Amino acid sequence: MALPDSTLITHIGELVTNDDGEGTFAARTDAALVIAEGQVAWTGPASRAPAADAMVDAGGRAVLPGFVDSHAHLVFAGERSAEFAARMAGRPYQAGGILTTVAATRAATDDALRANLARLAAEMARQGTTTLECKSGYGLTVADEARGLALAAEVTPEVTYLGAHVVPPEFKADPDGYVDLVRGPMLAACAPHARWIDVFCETGAFGADAAAAILAAGRAAGLGARIHANQLGPGPGIRVAAEAGAASADHCTYLTDADVDALVSARVVATLLPGAEFGTRHPYPDARRLLDAGATVALATDCNPGSSYTSSMPFCIALAVRDMGMTTQEAVWSATAGGAAALRREDVGRLGVGARADLILLDAPSHVYLAYRPGVPQIAAVWQEGRLVAGSVT
Ligand code: NIG
Ligand code: FE
Repeated sequence: MALPDSTLITHIGELVTNDDGEGTFAARTDAALVIAEGQVAWTGPASRAPAADAMVDAGGRAVLPGFVDSHAHLVFAGERSAEFAARMAGRPYQAGGILTTVAATRAATDDALRANLARLAAEMARQGTTTLECKSGYGLTVADEARGLALAAEVTPEVTYLGAHVVPPEFKADPDGYVDLVRGPMLAACAPHARWIDVFCETGAFGADAAAAILAAGRAAGLGARIHANQLGPGPGIRVAAEAGAASADHCTYLTDADVDALVSARVVATLLPGAEFGTRHPYPDARRLLDAGATVALATDCNPGSSYTSSMPFCIALAVRDMGMTTQEAVWSATAGGAAALRREDVGRLGVGARADLILLDAPSHVYLAYRPGVPQIAAVWQEGRLVAGSVT
């Protein structure tokens, strides 16, 4: 008897499950998988696959967990292609460019922001992302941050309050006053719409004391902590993350040995965002050093109009393999199970029985092709909670 509303995907050349209980990449060949009621109901050898209501023949292609993009800034208006072109011509990246997007975002209607968000979320889905995190941070007033978070919540439950992105122009003479706003009335208005709180802890944005105070206030309001740390140079962000019990420290581009030790001992996920190094010409973060030290590493896009205007997890995987010392297996694990760890999610990033049926059918025989054929569209089909949301199965 087939399970009701079930789909069997069979003749899978490589099924990436990440489900061996070791917290590492795991896969099986000549496999099959059954989806029922939005979850993975069975996995095993194709020769022993049970009956189902519908059948998809993968024809030897690979099936992977959907990507978990645990870091994105999708609530914005406008674009900054001229700034990118200038950077590529030699101008450095500065945190202040964020204010260009703040001005455009404040001036935009709800519907314009909603349309941009929907466009980017759909773009992500087509590239295999089935879980996305989305930050505010281009509003920087109580009303604009709250509206950004409410809009983000329309596309994902992983919503992050980033009132502490930069100090807005109207607080230029009173940055402490802005910190008080972020951890006071702005937090009160934003916490109901968010699951997480984030701070950009960097020269030109927020220092260690302000970051720690903001994260503590967020935690007291029921939000989980995450941080932008050590992106543009060395700094105190990793220490702040460890002390705050943050789920994840993101960027991790400039790390001391003490930073690496702190990430490992405080069990803070190191989320690496190579799209930002690509877009700012900074050196790529050293994933190998983090992995060899025992850190949990996630990969995410950092999709935003300034430093990293990519929504492509396959692109990030290719960069991580080519330039950050990751094996293809490590990079795919970090883009799936690693992202789930960064969001403290157990139901995604793996394809064991009981996991959410978020999966990718790759137009290739193995996960290696994601890095081996960079820039080539290879996502044949994407299911989210068992529903086909992109591509086709023919
Ligand atoms: O993660 N680092 C801070 N925020 C973004 C950049 C935002 C922007 O330049 O608009 C980032 O890289
Ligand atoms: Fe970011």
